[in-house]
Formats: sequence, structure tokens, C-alpha cells
Amino acid sequence: MKHFAPYPVAMKKAKGARLWDLDGNEYIDYCLSFGPLILGHGHPRVMKAIRDALADAGTTMFGTPHELEAKLAERLLRIFLPDGRMRFTLSGTEATIHAVRLARAYRRRSVIAKFEGHFHGAVDELLVSHTPTKEEAARGLVPVSGSRGTPDYMLQNTLVLPFNDLDETERRIRERAADLACVILEPVERSYIAPERDFLKGVREVTDELDIPLIFDEVMSGFRVTFGGAQHAYGVTPDLTCLGKVIGGGLPCGAFLGREDIVGLADPSRGEFFHSSTFAGYPPAMAAGLATLDVLGRRGTFDSLVATTRRLVDGISKAIHASGVVAQIPAVGTVFSILFTPGRLHDYRDTLAADASQRRELDMALLDRGIFVKPGKPFYLSTAHDRGIIGSTLDAFGAALTDLS
Ligand SMILES: Cc1ncc(COP(=O)(O)O)c(C=O)c1O
Repeated sequence: MKHFAPYPVAMKKAKGARLWDLDGNEYIDYCLSFGPLILGHGHPRVMKAIRDALADAGTTMFGTPHELEAKLAERLLRIFLPDGRMRFTLSGTEATIHAVRLARAYRRRSVIAKFEGHFHGAVDELLVSHTPTKEEAARGLVPVSGSRGTPDYMLQNTLVLPFNDLDETERRIRERAADLACVILEPVERSYIAPERDFLKGVREVTDELDIPLIFDEVMSGFRVTFGGAQHAYGVTPDLTCLGKVIGGGLPCGAFLGREDIVGLADPSRGEFFHSSTFAGYPPAMAAGLATLDVLGRRGTFDSLVATTRRLVDGISKAIHASGVVAQIPAVGTVFSILFTPGRLHDYRDTLAADASQRRELDMALLDRGIFVKPGKPFYLSTAHDRGIIGSTLDAFGAALTDLS
């Protein structure tokens, strides 16, 4: 993930919205470690919480339940599902692995249904069809291996669905219902392609009717689409939710939570379900997560971050228009991307129509002007991106787009 051609930039220091590389070059950071750093680098409240957690405990971890873990669990359940149950993991990937295993335990079936273009972590079966090429996509909506080394049975056990096409999604789910363990999706595709009106509601209705657990992977959208995720923004409650990124405040953390009768299957006294991870519930991560949610949850903070994102997106749109370049900026909440295509953008296939080489040129021109984004990837904002930083970013965009046109 960190690599890009001809070689990635190695960083040495960071503060707020800024990064400095090994040669001392300064950048405004729009990668933010792929999303988690929503308060920017080294927020004082988060850094203090980490220091205090270490000092108070006198150790890095206990290998037992502890107070901060319970506190963050209570906070997250209050936000997402007050009468639900939850567990911490070390990463978003571990959260989706366990959510899928729980769904299989509940349904006693093995096939998973996932959407083309959706990412749920670097796990063989969850990588299926996450980035098919144009040529692979032309073969139809069939399972495509996401990595060399994926066993065939993973492909046979995966049903691929089309995001934002409710009729076809429903048809496919009904056809394979007898084998399905779950339906898993990113409720906002890659956190910048919004679900169309009633799409999530329709998926909820059909999975409810067939008693197939619906898993929302909100590892990215959880505290980026809105405070409390896409399920709050779009008013649809899944059976299981996966979280990560922001909830660890910049330290490794993930979680899965959901219906008592499903997550309850993981109750150790039943002896039926296996969940293990040495570092899950890592105390400094719990402290950093609590501090992050404290700051982000202050009245007006998230709304103001969304407004900053809107201001930047509007400014870039104007610059794009003025330059005569054909591109669009899909944006949801605090995330946006730039795609060089005039066509509609409502699913992964539409993104394949975009000109990736133009986007690469833009990213390199931005990098030269001190704007850091992982080439080709979305832009993430933080509360440290203030007016001055947005102004400098827009200046850099203006110059970079002039180079392009
Ligand atoms: C939607 C989604 N799910 C799962 C993951 C995996 O999370 P992690 O990298 O913490 O394992 C990611 C990471 O980018 C993600 O965006």
C-alpha cells in the first residue's frame, strides 16, 4: 500500500496537517495514514492520553481485560448499538475476518456475498473482486482473485454483487440464499461513492427477510462519513458492524459489534467460537481512541470538518473547470477523490473508465508542490487542515492543473 512508482517518499516527522521527508521537504498530508488521523498528526490530547495510559499502567499491556477497553467499548456501543455486544481486534482486517466467521457460525452456511470494488482487508476471500481490471470486469460479475496465491475454493465460495444496482443485487442474493452466510459491504464505496437512494434500505430488507446477516464494513466510513458512520447517515442498521482506523486514534485497533444473538455466539462460556489476538484492546490504543472521540465528538467539530472538506472540494472543482481538464470529484463527508472521467460515478465499474495516467500526473505535480496524497487514492481531511492550509492547497492545485492542461 505504501509503494508507488518510481519510489515512495520516506517521512521523518509530522505535526498537525504537515509531513517532512528525510530530505527535509515539507508536505500537506491528505493521506493521513489512509484515514485514521482525523485530528491530524500528534494532536496534543491524543499524545497526552497515550503518555498517561503508559504511565498510569506502568506497562504497555496486561493480557487481561482492562478499564480503558471497557470504557471505549461502552462509548462505541452507545454510538452504534446500545443493546449490542462487541469485541476489539488489532486491525480492521481482523474485524472483518471475525464478523464473517460470526455470520457463518450463525447461519451455518459458508458462501459470502460481497460487492465488486469493495475492500475489507487483505484476506484471500475478502480480496475477491476488490479491484478487477477492465478486462476481468468484461467477463461479467464473476469472482476474480485479488492476489496471486488465492485458492480456487475462495472464488467458488464468493458471490459478487453490483453496488447501487438493487434489482440485480437482490436477484443474486435470492438465487444463492440457501448457501449464503452473509452479505458484506462498504456502505459508502471506498468512502467517496455514496449509496443511491434506498439502495442500503433495499439490501437491508432482502437480507432481513432471508435472515442473512448484513455486515457493514465501517472501518473507513465509521467516523469519516459522519460521526457514527454511514448507518447513521443513511438510517439503516446492519446486523454486524466492523470498525477500525479512527477508533484507535492513530494506534492499531479494530472492533466488531452487533446483534446480541450473533455476537453472543462468541461468548467464551459457550466454547463454540474462536477469537484471539495478542494485542487486541491494546491499552494505549484505547486511550488514543477515547481522546480522539472526545475531541471529534465536541459540538460542531465534525460538521466543521465536513464544511472544510466541502470548501476544498468546491475550490478544486473551480480550478478544474478553469483549467479545461475533464474530471470530477466524488465526495462524502470528510473524504473525496478525483477521477478523470465525464461519466457517471455510481459503482466500481464507472471508476474503471477514469484516466488513471492523468490522475497520476496530477498527483506527481501536487507532490512537487508539497501536497502529499497516495497517488490514485482518495484524499482524507483532518481538523488540523485550517483555512491557511486549504488556501495553500488550492494554490498548489491551480499550478498543478495548469501544468496538466
Ligand atoms: C473499508 C475497509 N475495511 C477494512 C480495512 C482493513 O483495515 P486494516 O488496514 O486496519 O486492517 C480497510 C483499510 O483500508 C478499509 O478501508
